[in-house]
Amino acid sequence: MICDTAKLYGNNIGDNVEIRDYAIIYKDVVIGSNVVIGEHSVIGRSVTPTSVMKKEISKRKETLISNEVSICSNVIIYEDVVIGRDSLIGDNSSIMPNVRLGDSVLISRCVTINTDVQIGNHTRIMDNTHITGRVKIGNHVFISVGVTMANDNLFGKKGYNDDVFGAVIEDYVSLGVGAVILPGVKIGKGSIVAAGSVVKKDVPENVIVAGNPAKIVSKVPSTLSRV
Ligand SMILES: CC(C)(COP(=O)(O)OP(=O)(O)OC[C@H]1O[C@@H](n2cnc3c(N)ncnc32)[C@H](O)[C@@H]1OP(=O)(O)O)[C@@H](O)C(=O)NCCC(=O)NCCS
Repeated sequence: MICDTAKLYGNNIGDNVEIRDYAIIYKDVVIGSNVVIGEHSVIGRSVTPTSVMKKEISKRKETLISNEVSICSNVIIYEDVVIGRDSLIGDNSSIMPNVRLGDSVLISRCVTINTDVQIGNHTRIMDNTHITGRVKIGNHVFISVGVTMANDNLFGKKGYNDDVFGAVIEDYVSLGVGAVILPGVKIGKGSIVAAGSVVKKDVPENVIVAGNPAKIVSKVPSTLSRV
């Protein structure tokens, strides 16, 4: 069902798709089957270029919403985004260009995902988390509420150049509430970052790190291991 107040600029839409009131679907959007697009959501939006972002703006326009995806209300998804099948994007979340989400991904409410981000299958990102640009997140990762990431130790002084990059977060990592992940760190497979920690250095596989700066406090016990 497509509500009367929804605005569609293209018609590449699969079977059994529900587009609710005041949603806007731009021209280069492909929507699979059994998809719900919530009220006031905007899919396939073009970026407004700033001088810093200009060279980064993607040439690819298509945004793909795969089968069985649910997009909740007030979600903004820009052009050049792929949402894998069976994923859910929660209310008020925003996803910038050149972002790839795997299958069965959960993005909860008020999550912001910047440009050039890859997220693997079955990964969950909870409310009010910010994923900065140029981040790679693996499969089965759990990112708790209020996690913040940074990608630039020069605070934008040299623009969005090649020295700007965020974290690599390997499979089965868990990030506790309010963790801060600083530019360029790698967090090894299965490791846990304790609540409120500030991660400044690489974290090896299968350890718990805690504190500011985060240090190893133990191996991951079998009770907490998800690998
Ligand atoms: C990481 C965590 C799971 C560790 O729990 P645990 O295995 O029971 O570990 P302990 O409480 O025995 O702590 C081990 C050491 O790490 C320290 N530590 C644990 N969590 C810490 C934290 N968040 N910040 C600073 N130090 C911490 C403890 O003080 C202890 O240090 P000590 O040996 O010098 O006394 C837990 O502390 C945590 O942060 N959980 C996050 C929960 C969360 O965010 N869940 C998200 C779901 S919404």
